[in-house]
Parts: sequence; C-alpha cells; structure tokens
Amino acid sequence: MNTILDIRDLHAGYNQAAVLEGISLSVSNGEIVSIVGANGAGKSTLLGAITRLVEVTRGSIHFDGVDITTIAPHRLPAMGLVMVPEGGRLFPFMTVQENLELGYFSRRSRQDAKDRLEEVISLFPVLAERREQLAGHLSGGERQMCAIARAVMSRPKLLMLDEPSVGLSPMMVGKVFELVEALARHEGLSIVLVEQNVEEALELSKRAYVVEHGRIVRSGSSDELRSDPALQAAYMGA
Ligand SMILES: Nc1ncnc2c1ncn2[C@@H]1O[C@H](COP(=O)(O)OP(=O)(O)O)[C@@H](O)[C@H]1O
Ligand SMILES: [Mg+2]
Repeated sequence: MNTILDIRDLHAGYNQAAVLEGISLSVSNGEIVSIVGANGAGKSTLLGAITRLVEVTRGSIHFDGVDITTIAPHRLPAMGLVMVPEGGRLFPFMTVQENLELGYFSRRSRQDAKDRLEEVISLFPVLAERREQLAGHLSGGERQMCAIARAVMSRPKLLMLDEPSVGLSPMMVGKVFELVEALARHEGLSIVLVEQNVEEALELSKRAYVVEHGRIVRSGSSDELRSDPALQAAYMGA
C-alpha cells in the first residue's frame, strides 16, 4: 500500500456550518506533507474530520486502504493514525515518563513497553534529562517534543501535527522540526504537518497543500511553492 492517506471531496463542519468544501489530498507512505494556511482557513477542522471528531457530510477518507469515515474515533490510534493537537495536551501533573507511558497501548509485552520507552526517549535527548520532571514544568518546545514522543509510543503509521510551532521561538521551531524529520526517517513514519508558519513548514516537507476558506487553493512540491511570489506575499512576509 503506497498511499497511507487518501481524501476525496471532503465536506465537513459544525452543526450545518460548512467549513471544508471539497478537500482532496493524499499522502504516500513515508512522506512528510504540510498543509498550510492562515488562521481560520480550516486546517484544524480538516484534522478533526480525519480523526472523526468533526462531522463529515460528504466525501471519503481512506487510511491505509480502509474507509475510516464511519469508524469510531477511539479505534483510529490502534489502526496507526494519531494526532498531536495544538498545544500538545500533556497531563501537567504527571511526569514526562508517565506521559510517554500513556502513549503506549500495544498489547505486546511489558518488556516491549519498556524497550519502546527507551527507544523513543533516545530519539528525544532533551526528554532523557527531564523524564522525572512534571510535564507542566517543561518549556514550550520541550512540551511539544514530549507530546510528539507520546504520540509515537505505539508505533503509528501516520502522525498528524497541529501547529507544533505555535508559541515557540524560531530557534526552538528549528529544533522541533529537526526532531520530527529525524523521527520520520528513523521510523519510516508518514507525517501530516499543519502549520501557519509556512516558510518553516515548507522547509521540512517535500510536498504541500495550501488551504484557504476550506478549500485547497494550491498544491505542489514544497520547493515550487516556496519560490512562488504570490505565496511569498500572502504567507511569508516577502
Ligand atoms: N467548534 C467549532 N464550532 C463552530 N465553528 C468552528 C469550530 N471550530 C472552528 N470553527 C470555525 O471553522 C473555521 C475553520 O477553523 P479552524 O479549522 O480552526 O481553522 P485553522 O485551524 O486553519 O485556524 C473558522 O471559521 C472557525 O471559526
Ligand atoms: Mg488550527
């Protein structure tokens, strides 16, 4: 199966208020794809529709060959589809390690749970130093890393990140994105990166889609989009 995510003519919204009006996009296995657009464009609604938290009114979403539009949201992580919501949503009064352990729900064995914890922590060196600290005491960047690390504990196939750069300094954004790239390479993970930070996102991804008012208005290779004058003017402060 070469395509991990295939969305066709997706319509979705809130109580009759249509937000997404015919979104089609696909992600190949092992690919990092970014979905960029301004505040209110419908990016989080799109992730909500994929994770079945927002009502889909038309269209199809195939994940790993299975139509998931009628699948209960709680079944998706076990199928290999996980999302890190904006802000990460860690449990602040639990330690970093406890947060990570919560991300592990495979039924393999206790030993595998331990091995996986060490493996994930080795990919995020900052967390190794902080594993006994409360998650609420982490900096913004560390929190984002911890949320991403927790999301991959059960070895998902597709990881979707909702604006991981929000509130981070440019240097920290660079660090988080570097880790995401290393993680994708190491694990053969597919990634959907949702960002308002268009310039940085396009540097990380190979391909991208631009969302405006619930529709895809542009798509192509990240290089091509990054050098497009119209996109530069609209999103990159050029
Ligand atoms: N829970 C909600 N109920 C009703 N409307 C919502 C809700 N969440 C978002 N919206 C509306 O949907 C549109 C898209 O929002 P959103 O998907 O959050 O955009 P983005 O993530 O691109 O900033 C906006 O007009 C927003 O006001
Ligand atoms: Mg959003």
